[in-house]
Amino acid sequence: MSVSPDFRTDLATGVVDRAIYTSEEILALEKERIFARTWRYACTIRDLRNPGDYFTLSVADQPVLVIRGNDGEIRAFHNACSHRGAVLTDERCGNQGQVLKCMYHAWSFNLKGDLTGVPYDEGYGPGFDRGAYGLKPVACETFHDLVFVALRPTVPSLTDFLGEMADHLAPYVQGIEPIGRNSWIYDGNWKLWHENFRDDYHAEFTHRSIRDLLAGTTARGWNWGAAPGHSVLQWAFPPLDPPKYARALQRFSGVDFSDGTMPVGWSSMLAQGPPGPPEGFAGGEPPEIRQEVLAVFPNLDIQPGPKDTPRGMKAGYLQTVTPLGVNRARVDITVYSDVEDDDATRQEQLENLADTQGSWGKLSCDDTEAAARCQIGVRGEGGRSNLFTRGVAPGRGGESADVRDEYSQREFFRVYQQYLRDES
Ligand code: FES
Ligand SMILES: [Fe+2]
Repeated sequence: MSVSPDFRTDLATGVVDRAIYTSEEILALEKERIFARTWRYACTIRDLRNPGDYFTLSVADQPVLVIRGNDGEIRAFHNACSHRGAVLTDERCGNQGQVLKCMYHAWSFNLKGDLTGVPYDEGYGPGFDRGAYGLKPVACETFHDLVFVALRPTVPSLTDFLGEMADHLAPYVQGIEPIGRNSWIYDGNWKLWHENFRDDYHAEFTHRSIRDLLAGTTARGWNWGAAPGHSVLQWAFPPLDPPKYARALQRFSGVDFSDGTMPVGWSSMLAQGPPGPPEGFAGGEPPEIRQEVLAVFPNLDIQPGPKDTPRGMKAGYLQTVTPLGVNRARVDITVYSDVEDDDATRQEQLENLADTQGSWGKLSCDDTEAAARCQIGVRGEGGRSNLFTRGVAPGRGGESADVRDEYSQREFFRVYQQYLRDES
């Protein structure tokens, strides 16, 4: 594509042209220059425990398959038969046994992508070279327990791509395993969802019901961009006081919990009790609990439990948002737990997913509505720009920036703009 986006505003300043949410041309550029060139989260290594386990995803509208081989290696391929292009599986995940066999003319491929079976192959003549018709590989790397793929990476390694985010992310994504999933589609541009995970300005208003429950417990927070293109939201609160929490829950829900019965989700939080001091804490005033939301460019968000607590570090949500059009996107959530967790703890984590995340979840439904409303408004003539200019000190924020500042989003748009303008 020869078109170069001629932005009327400089996205890196935080004044964002609303055309990026409505333009078909810009969506095409995003697929070609961002989604095809960045490392994209695919799944966790424990989605691929056994040889033949696979996971599929769409990268810049191209079907990609990630699969574990008999040698234990995880590889990625274009999910397209080398004969006439049929996808080898249209399932999200599963196990292919020892062979990927195409449903159309039964060409088959081993777990390394080699073409191993061609029915009636003599018809192709003596010069037919099976070696030329293996599955086309896709770059694939792991970062601890996370598997990433890239069609045409602009940086050589996943570690380079993660940059400053690697150190933030690493403690959360070791020894985790997926225990549940859900997906839904909303009527809005994909960026509206990802922006929302870099935004803590909205939380106390959009999620008012949660805020009321937690009244007085959220003390402070910070926000910063982690180059290139990633970000961290962090906030601090005193250790949870379960009886006080239960009283607030009872008051705002109208349900009497005096017999110990709690609704789904909240029961799991209460069962955990106060997160407690971090390891090595030697007494005195209990320290604040910190929690983070990590956003990885361009479309991955990680929402773990409280930081520096054994439970919180290993339980949470991995979310991706995938564009289906300028005004339509799909969210895929994986809930994960500590590999050491027992069944009851996993069940609690699943209940928390059901309660808070998903198109019906009390958190996600608020954000979904916000995205849909923004999409309706940005396509009109009510204004040309969206503002991400909160936080006026130079730099990328950090512990001096308020959690409501927008360094996190400006770092996204700084790198977003670089990718879109890169015609190489
Ligand atoms: S399309 Fe796959 S075998 Fe023909
Ligand atoms: Fe939100």
